[in-house]
Amino acid sequence: MTWGLQNRLSRIIRPTDHRTVMLAVDHGYFLGPTHKLEVPRKTIEPLLPYADGLMITRGVVRTSIDPTFPTPIVLRVSGGASVLKEDLSHEEVTTSMDEAVRLNASAVALSIFVGAPHEHESLVNLGGLVDIGEEIGMPVLAVTAVGKELEKRDARYLSLACRIAAEFGAHFVKTYYCEDFEKVVESCPVPLVVAGGPKLETELDALELAQRSIEAGAAGVDMGRNIWQAPNAVGMIRAVRAVVHEHASAKEALEFVKAPKAKR
Ligand code: 5RP
Repeated sequence: MTWGLQNRLSRIIRPTDHRTVMLAVDHGYFLGPTHKLEVPRKTIEPLLPYADGLMITRGVVRTSIDPTFPTPIVLRVSGGASVLKEDLSHEEVTTSMDEAVRLNASAVALSIFVGAPHEHESLVNLGGLVDIGEEIGMPVLAVTAVGKELEKRDARYLSLACRIAAEFGAHFVKTYYCEDFEKVVESCPVPLVVAGGPKLETELDALELAQRSIEAGAAGVDMGRNIWQAPNAVGMIRAVRAVVHEHASAKEALEFVKAPKAKR
């Protein structure tokens, strides 16, 4: 890993504890104005001080994030299918590495669709992006996307997808939590961050997902809806931070959600 690449990655995965709380707000690239992310700036701004990284598209960076804000950007650079299509796997690289550099991104993110109709293209895209990333010192986050097939999220499938991502050279991988998640972690030689997925019934459920992910060896979370669709979104991201960075249990961290102004 070159110095620049390592330096960028360490802005996201903190070298002090090798953990990260990334905030995912890139959903609009295929979902349009997702519930509670209709006006991106309004949702994102209060959460920014608590995020170690912000997963986002270039359009929302430009329009909705103050360039003086120091939170590192993980730029979503793949896309090409909307939720209106049955097959979400038909993606290309839609944002160049030059643009990522201009936006001072700390990493770029691309989805791979293992087992889906456009598996081949998505993996070749990953390989190409890693080649350019290595050349200029930009880490690549591979997202093991499942499209609409959420039932694919088991240890066998996710181990396969994460391992393939790592073999193609991804510097870190975003995936889903599942039963026996330690098996997914064990067979993936690069750090894993866990997506929250669709909003769970309670905040405790989402915090438990974060806790179990960390206990199984994840480097952190890249969570979206379970943070910004929560009634107390700031309390929720602070609670997630407590679990990821401060060894709090999900139950202990729930305190932040209930008492948003409580000092810690
Ligand atoms: C879409 C993504 C999203 O960033 C991801 O789903 C994370 O957000 P959430 O926690 O809401 O699932 O990568 O492909």
